[in-house]
Amino acid sequence: IHEPPFQGSFSSLSVDIESLQRQIDELSTFSDTPAPSVTRVLYSEKDVLARRYIKNLMGLSGLSVREDAVGNIFGRWVGSEPELAPVSTGSHIDAIPYSGKYDGVVGVLGAIEAINVLKRLGFKPKRSLEVIMFTSEEPTRFGISCLGSRLLAGSEELTELLKTTVDGQNISFSDAAKLAGYTNNEDLSSVLLKKGSYSAFIELHIEQGPILEEEATSIGVVTAIAAPASIKVDFEGNGGHAGAVLMPKRNDAGLAAAELALAVEKHVLESGSIDTVGTVGILELHPGAINSIPSKSHLEIGIRDIDEKRRNLVIEKIYQSALSISKARGVKLSEFKIVNQDPPALSEDSIIKASESACQELNLSYKKMISRAYHDSLFMARISPMGMIFIPCYKGYSHKPEEFAAPQDVANGVRVLALTLAKLSTS
Ligand code: GLV
Ligand code: MN
Ligand code: MN
Ligand code: MN
Repeated sequence: IHEPPFQGSFSSLSVDIESLQRQIDELSTFSDTPAPSVTRVLYSEKDVLARRYIKNLMGLSGLSVREDAVGNIFGRWVGSEPELAPVSTGSHIDAIPYSGKYDGVVGVLGAIEAINVLKRLGFKPKRSLEVIMFTSEEPTRFGISCLGSRLLAGSEELTELLKTTVDGQNISFSDAAKLAGYTNNEDLSSVLLKKGSYSAFIELHIEQGPILEEEATSIGVVTAIAAPASIKVDFEGNGGHAGAVLMPKRNDAGLAAAELALAVEKHVLESGSIDTVGTVGILELHPGAINSIPSKSHLEIGIRDIDEKRRNLVIEKIYQSALSISKARGVKLSEFKIVNQDPPALSEDSIIKASESACQELNLSYKKMISRAYHDSLFMARISPMGMIFIPCYKGYSHKPEEFAAPQDVANGVRVLALTLAKLSTS
């Protein structure tokens, strides 16, 4: 028996922005660094508390909650035709060290509020609607970005890799997951979902760039996500006493790292495109004493581009530089590991169209844009048609405590998300 189609009007989509803002503020208190900064690392105590908070909200919204073996959390609103592939939405709530309270969070709490909006309206979805909170979009703890969505989207390789993955404290992924209550994580194949498991996936997110705010545009409709890659490099030299070992006798692993960091910048700029970016976000020296020549150095390098080939060429040049620097300085290049080298993802036309018409119906200005940050959507695109909705954020700030999105902008994003979900759930 099919329910009659929804007869109400979407013009009155009303977001409970006070509650939503309170939730954003409350969630930000689950942090290992003081406000306004937020630090919430995978499977930490604070992460576990934050997960509980999300599951509770999902329950209060009447969603049926499921968790997989790595802690991806799913809250489902069963549609009138539950045999159809559901429409899903969601994001992450882990936060890199000393970051802000909106990255990812808006896409999880905003998704739950979008469900509330539709429920208050009396809307009944045909396809089930599902909110997903992905495990560890950020690579902070285990060096693997989008761990939950990457795995969920079918990365067999990752199921293997995680068997031997440890964090900086040498705690294994499996033990860390167990400590957080995920005791069934030995066989991760249960996490993998097949292509076609969802008819659509759409993620709400702050822009993390300045364009929407500068142009006073309410909504960004994402057409593509840039291709990220990350690399780990280790150099080793002899070290020694910083006074006694004279300059000609040194093979300083720290200087090799410094030289490579500058080479990264050079090769990125050589691409000639403003779209190519590279960052050495981690540079560690061992033993880290002013009177000891660095005997080991460790770099982590991120390279991104909307053009995958061009990005890969930069990676190749960085590798050649690492080899020549190690030779010239007499240090050993003990590791050059490409951790991930992901292709870009394109949004699905039908989802772009649904979001565009949602903006039009809600009288909100919008522009199509690419995402230069990566998101769980990059991986969801492997198993589902994908789309993203951006909202403006203050000066484009992200990954720092000053990250901010105005309540009105968050509300606009939730309304567009709700209406887009409604459209997708009936198609
Ligand atoms: C995600 O946090 C990114 O670095 O793009
Ligand atoms: Mn982030
Ligand atoms: Mn994010
Ligand atoms: Mn991100």
